[in-house]
Amino acid sequence: MDIEQLFLKRQSTREYSAKSVSDEDLKEICRLATLAPSAVNSQPYKLFAVNGERAKEFAKNVQVLGSNKWASACPAFIVIQKGNPAIVERLGQRILKTEFLPIDVGILSAYIVLAAENMGIQTCILGMRDEKGIAKFLGLDEKAQFPLVIAVGYAPEDYPVREKKRRPLDEIFKAVK
Ligand SMILES: Cc1cc2nc3c(=O)[nH]c(=O)nc-3n(C[C@H](O)[C@H](O)[C@H](O)COP(=O)(O)O)c2cc1C
Repeated sequence: MDIEQLFLKRQSTREYSAKSVSDEDLKEICRLATLAPSAVNSQPYKLFAVNGERAKEFAKNVQVLGSNKWASACPAFIVIQKGNPAIVERLGQRILKTEFLPIDVGILSAYIVLAAENMGIQTCILGMRDEKGIAKFLGLDEKAQFPLVIAVGYAPEDYPVREKKRRPLDEIFKAVK
């Protein structure tokens, strides 16, 4: 797909049809996303695909404080687990006082949603999540961290592609002469 069309079509989808997502497609989305850049190429994350019946059980973990009610109908989720940054990255962080890991995770999630949309699959990045609940669900240590979850599925046929509401470019962009 033309890149602008892809960017315009990708949107946070908060309604899903009953169509299920295949395990192969979830894995392919994750494979493509691992091509994302990361600081010193440390790739400080793991990805979990939660599909089908397990996704129904999982949904409550992204419905904290009454949020994301629509997620109950979402057929699949991709969970990003925070890993350990490489030593060089940690040193860089100490010197530069910049935490690269959330940046790496953000880039990864952008790759996930764009790769999915390019495959005709819709998504929504979810920051509202219960990390302890997710750790328990995945059978991991309760200290495990999950900075983002991505809802994955197919929008209903009549789900509109919304016009993008973005700040004017002049507010954001300046050509330096
Ligand atoms: C880090 C992050 C966390 C987000 N968390 C949620 C969330 O918990 N629930 C939700 O419905 N949307 C969530 N969103 C989606 C944003 O609301 C959405 O990207 C933004 O409004 C722009 O709309 P668009 O994605 O349709 O272009 C999140 C997006 C990001 C990048």
